[in-house]
Amino acid sequence: MLDLTGKKALVTGIANNRSIAWGIAQQLHQAGAELGVTYLPDDKGRFEKKVGELVEPLAPTVFLPCDVQNDQQVDETFSAIAEKWGKLDILIHCLAFAQKDDLSGDFSATSRQGFNTALDVSSYSLTRLAHSAKPLMTDGGAIVTLTYLGGVKVIPNYNVMGVAKAALECSVRYLASELGPHNIRVNAISAGPIRTLASSAVGGILDMIHHVEATAPLRRTVTQVEVGNTAAFLCSDLSSGITGQVIYVDSGYEIMGM
Ligand SMILES: NC(=O)c1ccc[n+]([C@@H]2O[C@H](COP(=O)([O-])OP(=O)(O)OC[C@H]3O[C@@H](n4cnc5c(N)ncnc54)[C@H](O)[C@@H]3O)[C@@H](O)[C@H]2O)c1
Repeated sequence: MLDLTGKKALVTGIANNRSIAWGIAQQLHQAGAELGVTYLPDDKGRFEKKVGELVEPLAPTVFLPCDVQNDQQVDETFSAIAEKWGKLDILIHCLAFAQKDDLSGDFSATSRQGFNTALDVSSYSLTRLAHSAKPLMTDGGAIVTLTYLGGVKVIPNYNVMGVAKAALECSVRYLASELGPHNIRVNAISAGPIRTLASSAVGGILDMIHHVEATAPLRRTVTQVEVGNTAAFLCSDLSSGITGQVIYVDSGYEIMGM
């Protein structure tokens, strides 16, 4: 039923084998999609090497550096897709960043620069990538981003990233409204806490995971592959009537009041 054969999918946000984007890429590949992968470049080329080796078994036909704060790299990414594929069906936005100092302590101490950086990388980037993807999604398309409960409720230490996720979730609704007439669907997955490079920067992530394990209806947190399965569903025709939504993949934690 879940068949993405012939679909061209761009996956952003793979840093290592713990990345949620890696779980998503694997499930899209398994469903038959042809993959393009971008990575965050660094001076020593470490991510290029590491991510390149990791994704090799998925045989991506596009593999490019793309820092979402760098408009030139974003433009080059989509030009390369236009040249290589001529169209795009699926865009996975699975990235975020905030300075470590802003992910613990008093929220009111967030600096202007820290606020701007978190919102630029973690929220605005979705709009920027969607804008570039829109003209390539000529057969319709699916855009999926990753969010967290901290954008809706107060989660200790999540701080400015909570504000960024609130902006991201709102952006999903505005983008879904704009792109719906083009048959492009835009949805977010709100994942439960998972240990990754990014989540390790949030103060007390292990406590968050243990709390979910103790109180969520399923009495455990979720895996990257479970998030990947939901992403594959949201990119497939099985979810053709769903857009502008935030789908919780969190073992049910979000429904609990106490
Ligand atoms: N891990 C969790 O508990 C959890 C829960 C809910 C949502 N999320 C969200 O999932 C997404 C992926 O995070 P993850 O937990 O897999 O961690 P991760 O560290 O594996 O992924 C974060 C990615 O963001 C990329 N990135 C950072 N700045 C960038 C920039 N300027 N340009 C391009 N890429 C940039 C990094 O290179 C990395 O690949 C994030 O949006 C995160 O907020 C994570």
